[in-house]
Amino acid sequence: MDKVVWITGANSGIGKSITLKFLRNGHKVVASARREEEIKNILNEEGVDESDLIIVPLDVTDPEKIANTYELLKEKHLFVGLINNAGATSFQNALENSISEIKNIIETNLLGSIYMIKTLLPEMVEAEGGRIINILSVVTNKIFTSSSAYSASKAGLEAYSKVLREEVRENNIRIINIYPGATITPIWPDKALEKFSSRMMNPDRIADIVYDAYSIQENIVPEEIVLRPVKGDL
Ligand SMILES: NC(=O)c1ccc[n+]([C@@H]2O[C@H](COP(=O)([O-])OP(=O)(O)OC[C@H]3O[C@@H](n4cnc5c(N)ncnc54)[C@H](OP(=O)(O)O)[C@@H]3O)[C@@H](O)[C@H]2O)c1
Repeated sequence: MDKVVWITGANSGIGKSITLKFLRNGHKVVASARREEEIKNILNEEGVDESDLIIVPLDVTDPEKIANTYELLKEKHLFVGLINNAGATSFQNALENSISEIKNIIETNLLGSIYMIKTLLPEMVEAEGGRIINILSVVTNKIFTSSSAYSASKAGLEAYSKVLREEVRENNIRIINIYPGATITPIWPDKALEKFSSRMMNPDRIADIVYDAYSIQENIVPEEIVLRPVKGDL
């Protein structure tokens, strides 16, 4: 059985950087996202061994599909890690945010991450070990307008995972919450990237820190890591 790390939202931005970092360090990765072709592009990147990448087209808002996918994968793989990275936002104020946008944000960022945790947790409890990393955001402790649903989704996952952490500590399961500030990825509108990218963070550096936090072998867990551009939030 191959040990694997499941990374959601693996085909773009921070998730793609994390996926490449793990692959280049010899891990086997289950890489999931909705756009399969974009996941396949990872195979063209330097230092990627095709046999280490398991490409899984998956919408995290679909708990049945997650469960069915896992049932197939678990025949040949041991899930030692989960990185809940898939995320969406809309940059709309509460008045203008449509119900479908709000639903998508909450279902992807909050419920999707919980569905993933619920799917892999029994195996980790059984194995008496595992690592779950949630890519949250600085919005959990600072007010950003035009981010109400997004902030609710990230604060919700923060609350869920803090309770979970206490419940599974004794099972040697590490819950690591990462709180990045502005990072250069396609989640931002082009105009924002044009204006601010010089002071935003590089997703590859976020991936380096995620990887270091994941890799600690001693009885230490960095439970919360806040990452900000030196010059502060936008
Ligand atoms: N960039 C920042 O400044 C920043 C700051 C703090 C936190 N974050 C967080 O970092 C994470 C990654 O975001 P990013 O900035 O790297 O944005 P991104 O480049 O837009 O990546 C978002 C990823 O999520 C996937 N995704 C979206 N909806 C999905 C769904 N329903 N099911 C499965 N996958 C889905 C996308 O793939 P598909 O579209 O193919 O599904 C894509 O891989 C998010 O959780 C975001 O909230 C970002």
